[in-house]
Amino acid sequence: MKTEIKIKNKNFETSILIKKNHISNFVKNISYKNERVFCILDSKIKNKVNLKGIKNINVVNIQCGENIKSIDVFKKLTEKLIKLKINRKSIIIAIGGGTLGDLVGFIASTLLRGLEFYLIPTTLLSQVDSSIGGKNGINTIYGKNLIGTFYQPKKVLIDISILKSLSKREIKAGYSEIVKHALINDYIFFCWLERNINKLLNLNKSILEKAIYKSIMIKLSYVKNDEKENLLNNHSRAMLNFGHTIGHAIENHYNYKKFNHGEAISIGMITEAKISNHLGLLSCDELNRIVIHFKKCKLKIFDRIIKEKKLIKIITKDKKNFKDNINFSLINNIGSSIFYKKLDKDKVYKILQNI
Ligand SMILES: NC(=O)c1ccc[n+]([C@@H]2O[C@H](COP(=O)([O-])OP(=O)(O)OC[C@H]3O[C@@H](n4cnc5c(N)ncnc54)[C@H](O)[C@@H]3O)[C@@H](O)[C@H]2O)c1
Ligand SMILES: [Zn+2]
Repeated sequence: MKTEIKIKNKNFETSILIKKNHISNFVKNISYKNERVFCILDSKIKNKVNLKGIKNINVVNIQCGENIKSIDVFKKLTEKLIKLKINRKSIIIAIGGGTLGDLVGFIASTLLRGLEFYLIPTTLLSQVDSSIGGKNGINTIYGKNLIGTFYQPKKVLIDISILKSLSKREIKAGYSEIVKHALINDYIFFCWLERNINKLLNLNKSILEKAIYKSIMIKLSYVKNDEKENLLNNHSRAMLNFGHTIGHAIENHYNYKKFNHGEAISIGMITEAKISNHLGLLSCDELNRIVIHFKKCKLKIFDRIIKEKKLIKIITKDKKNFKDNINFSLINNIGSSIFYKKLDKDKVYKILQNI
């Protein structure tokens, strides 16, 4: 399958190419046309990506993980690129997981006031979610992604051949974001996922390609409408945060060590689905159906921290909440979501005690 999705609206222009075994040629094509190309490459996959013999290219290896989304690594990598004499005509290509894409996207948007930028996501999570939509960011001790910009890559390459070396744990993490897209937006897609989950988790090519394509299209439908998350309604880009209000707080509480992003948000989605149920938005039958599906996929659904006051404290510090009120993107049916404004923090705490 080769597909190119072009997005052009009044605010931005970008394109997403889905093509197998194409990473070397993609980088080659960019480097032939440009003077200096800086490839920031996840060192875990350096032996799986062949960049030998490509001219005009500087490769910088970096070990991926949530810890690289920090002010410290931002400073070190930026200074390294300056030392290597990066200039305004240079191109930056990020090849790696979502953490690398988030960090390098932020660097590309700020270094020399913005450089042309390409993304080659290499985890399932980054292919279905983080490489799409132009958000980047790094973390601070006060919370996740508190520093960042909106900056669209010129082009994204989705190459599923690179996913073969992913661990089962990382495949499931990526699946969390796929099922999120189905839960907030597309009931039929959720039914299809229920039927095809085993094949998908075993990386069956055609099933995987369809799931990735559907996920990207759902995410894009929100991004096109509301690139900078200005809307506060059911079409807002914020709908993509389903599971993330709780999930980000869990990640932050455990200092990004106990759970990876996908695991934290799968606990977040089940917890927020239970909140939806308590508020009378989601029926018990639908909630059970979601829980059964998560259990079947062996996605995480619970951690004891969700019952502790500490979690509420972390949530209220989040940039998306105001004072003691918490904004949630909840689901009201499978495949349909609702922006729930200003739920009082004490009420949320009470609900969490009863789930
Ligand atoms: N910008 C956005 O819109 C957005 C959306 C969703 C998530 N995110 C962010 O994405 C990050 C999570 O991304 P992630 O799950 O890709 O994590 P990650 O970047 O840490 O990658 C996970 C692990 O997989 C390894 N890896 C990468 N490619 C591999 C391959 N092909 N084979 C084997 N191993 C490989 C990495 O080295 C790392 O150890 C979080 O920081 C999250 O906040 C951002
Ligand atoms: Zn996410």
